Amino acid sequence: MVKKVTIMNNPLYPALLKKLSEGAELTKNEYLELIRNRETVRDMASELARAERDRSYGPCIFVRGLIEFTNCCRNDCYYCGIRRSNTNIRRYRLSPEDILSCVDTGYGLGFRTFVMQGGEDPYYTDDILSDIIRSIKELHPDCAVTLSAGERSYESYRKLREAGADRYLLRHETVNPGHYARLHPSSMSHKERTNRLKMLMELGFQTGAGFMVGSPYQTEEDLADELIFLRGLRPHMVGIGPFIPHKDTPFAGMEAGSSELTVFMLSLIRLTLPYVLLPATTALNTVDPQGRIKGINSGANVLMPNLTPEDLRNDYSLYDNKLTSGPGAAANIGLLKDLVRATGCTIVTDRGDCRYI
Ligand code: 5AD
Repeated sequence: MVKKVTIMNNPLYPALLKKLSEGAELTKNEYLELIRNRETVRDMASELARAERDRSYGPCIFVRGLIEFTNCCRNDCYYCGIRRSNTNIRRYRLSPEDILSCVDTGYGLGFRTFVMQGGEDPYYTDDILSDIIRSIKELHPDCAVTLSAGERSYESYRKLREAGADRYLLRHETVNPGHYARLHPSSMSHKERTNRLKMLMELGFQTGAGFMVGSPYQTEEDLADELIFLRGLRPHMVGIGPFIPHKDTPFAGMEAGSSELTVFMLSLIRLTLPYVLLPATTALNTVDPQGRIKGINSGANVLMPNLTPEDLRNDYSLYDNKLTSGPGAAANIGLLKDLVRATGCTIVTDRGDCRYI
């Protein structure tokens, strides 16, 4: 006789998720329980997160044209392929004209937000960056400009804001100072990094924080702390993606973060911050060919196709095997529209501002 075994799923985890989706605040331990037992609730988390996104913004996916304007960087982060110590890389800088030409191409393709992302490159002084921002705004007053250019002074951020920059992305990388110190050289400070997020918010930028999932030495407890931190900070945007090793870094031999954990974290972030702008990142699609779709199906609502000139795209190598063609290339926005339509969502080409009230 076959013995019948019934596996009772612990009803605690669905109840916790439901509580979160109804707007209740979870404790760190409750988040931790969800993260530890994600196998049992991941489909439910995706479903609730998708519904939450639809309630906040409708089934809309906002697109941003990504311009990787410099791969020169004064920092030496242990995980990043464009770190200063990597001599095995061809460095480039886009001129203001190059950048404006990317913007024009993107505008023609329907983009109304441009993200200028680069290493921490002192070549781009406040004046140079401000001139570029002003030119973009003059030529295309209906567009938003997002900067992602690392740590600068308060005064510098103020000038960039005054020049018309609308948003700023600065991932804090990890909430845990001890963990931060294992990912960065001692010249970089966790406190300085998180302080800057506060400065950016104070200056009126729509501000993006974020971290890597599965970065070396990260614990599940750290991930629970990330959610508590984000809930307190209330950033307008949160960028997360799996850590992916780069061959020319000290973390070359480390294991990559997983797509399933990243997607689960996307759901928890959406449920914690219903109005957040949440990209399904290129890194997610690099570790999982279905990553973009899974991200959208788990509450993400932003995609950032690449507008960097094609011959330089491979040199912006934060991690190995970064995808630079296919639906992630801005020129192929048609392919992306088809992919997104298959999830029941639609690509929207307005500025896609955060709707925090
Ligand atoms: N794997 C995944 N993400 C990375 N980043 C940098 N290096 C890697 C890597 N090896 C992320 C960091 C940074 C953003 C621009 O890219 O979180 O803030």
